[in-house]
Amino acid sequence: MLYALLKLAHLLAAIVWIGGMVFAHWFLRPAAMALEPAVRVPLMQAVLRRFFTAVAVAATAVLASGLWMIGRVAKATVQVGGSFAMPLSWTVMATLGLVMIAIFGHIRFALYKRLRVATEAGDWAAGGRALASIRTWVGVNLALGVATVAAAVLPL
Ligand code: HEM
Repeated sequence: MLYALLKLAHLLAAIVWIGGMVFAHWFLRPAAMALEPAVRVPLMQAVLRRFFTAVAVAATAVLASGLWMIGRVAKATVQVGGSFAMPLSWTVMATLGLVMIAIFGHIRFALYKRLRVATEAGDWAAGGRALASIRTWVGVNLALGVATVAAAVLPL
């Protein structure tokens, strides 16, 4: 039962993270581009502040639940006298997941900080540049997120 709950938390966290990126990348941003920079940049900063807080929680939950599941399987295997070897799909998923977390760290702590400073200064040009960089890296993480789900569910 605990394993199933861990997997549920893992999947819900991944859905929040990947679903949020899909919404921001393909729905919110294209529509916001029609707004004046003085409206668009503060709006995007306010949306991304909330979203990145949710992603920080989701990424922590994905990592913790993933490591916990691996630990439980490894322990159960060793207890029945077997030796634990990570399935390839888990190794690929965990590696891609860690890369995604590192990229998120760059988005949150370098690029978003630039966006916040620019917004507070009313520098819409700098804010627009920060948003363009965030868009690029969210696109990369979105592609990695899809690859991670594929690695998790397709037979490798
Ligand atoms: C955002 C990154 C991640 C995504 C999108 C993701 C996605 C998934 C999905 C879709 C499953 C269900 C697979 C199935 O039952 O067929 C799964 C299971 C699992 N994930 Fe992840 N994962 C991510 C990161 C991680 C990380 C970082 C770890 C470990 C450190 C990890 C470890 C696991 C484990 C152990 C399972 C259980 C597999 C099973 O019971 O067959 N995942 N993940």
